[in-house]
Amino acid sequence: MRIGIMGAMEEEIALFHEKIKFFKQETIGLRNYIIGTLHNHEIVLTFSRWGKVAAASTATTIIERFGADLVIFTGVAGAASKLLEIGDVVVATEVMQYDMDISALPGFSRFEIPLLGLSRFPVPDNYVKMAAESAESYLSESLKKDLNSDILKKFSITNPKVTTGLIASGDRFIADYNSIKKLIRSLPDLQCIEMEGGAAAQVCYEHKIPIILMRTISDKANHSAVVDFSTFIKKIAPYLTCGVADNLIRKI
Ligand code: ADE
Repeated sequence: MRIGIMGAMEEEIALFHEKIKFFKQETIGLRNYIIGTLHNHEIVLTFSRWGKVAAASTATTIIERFGADLVIFTGVAGAASKLLEIGDVVVATEVMQYDMDISALPGFSRFEIPLLGLSRFPVPDNYVKMAAESAESYLSESLKKDLNSDILKKFSITNPKVTTGLIASGDRFIADYNSIKKLIRSLPDLQCIEMEGGAAAQVCYEHKIPIILMRTISDKANHSAVVDFSTFIKKIAPYLTCGVADNLIRKI
């Protein structure tokens, strides 16, 4: 299988550079695409840059130019559900764009994607199951080997868990809890928010390519989000985002 591995930031895919058996690199539209193999799969690895346009453009290249049969998107997210803690992993069962709204026009509901007639892109159940198992095994077997206890303690990461559910994307870094509260009122099953997954999922849906979206919680999208996010992305994200995705690729 040819698998596209995407993150939004360099840090979110950084450790794959050491894991992949490198074949070549191509640069297209400011992105570097690394072509190689990993666990008997052909791999195209890149980071998209931030936001929905960047993610859509990159997913399109991965599919159209490099012929990916599956896209794995890994990275970090802000928690929306009160049950989530920093360090938890969310595997998407559905992905959406929370800032899509053409409901002012007759016949359209809020969040609906024009002409597709749906607002949520589903992830196939077998992939959700595989991704959740990969995250469980990373958290129970590898996390404490990869990261020292001081850094885990700094973020109060003691017993991180895996959750499956709705992930929503929008072009905004959310750092106030009132915004999250408002979103949850409209989307009570929302687990976490980020800035790319919903766009990559739309591109995959339109090309009939499955996507797996996995996000580690880096912050709670509140007043501390900026500080938590910045430290998490440097010190913790590379291990979790790449470790979980590596387990998943081994399983596929
Ligand atoms: N990704 C990680 N944390 C986020 C936040 N608080 N808002 C949007 N995207 C994020």
